[in-house]
Amino acid sequence: MTDQKWMVAAMDSLLQDCPDDISVLANACAFLFSEMEEVNWLGFYRVHQNQLYLGPFQGLPACTTIAMGKGACGRAALHDQVVVLDDVRLEENYIACHEETRAEMVIPLHKANRVVAVLDMDSLRVGRFQTEDQLFITEIAKIIEKYL
Ligand code: SME
Repeated sequence: MTDQKWMVAAMDSLLQDCPDDISVLANACAFLFSEMEEVNWLGFYRVHQNQLYLGPFQGLPACTTIAMGKGACGRAALHDQVVVLDDVRLEENYIACHEETRAEMVIPLHKANRVVAVLDMDSLRVGRFQTEDQLFITEIAKIIEKYL
């Protein structure tokens, strides 16, 4: 089994015993953060009254509230689309929680066809997140959605 296939299967198995959304997101981000290379922050923002609130994460403390449409996370949530930034320094609509972050990828998570959260991951390396990573993390996101 490839590493990616193993991770999808392992994530599915890990989340089966989680009793609520916070447990699901907490274990999902701990597992992903421990397995992903060159990722310095990884976590979730949850949709709450048309804003995003910081949820379970791994890494340094981060911005707690993000308006819909603002930054990479707000854009991903508002437009229900994956956002990949090769170099955050080139982005105008970007919220710098950590000065040292260079690349970022944000994946929306759904429940009943609505965006309920986003999975955000940061890297210190420009261009860290490629199409292959996007496809892989989208598969992972589908597993997480099953348990929300
Ligand atoms: N950079 C994000 C904010 C969250 S932190 O990266 C943890 C953004 O632009 O939405």
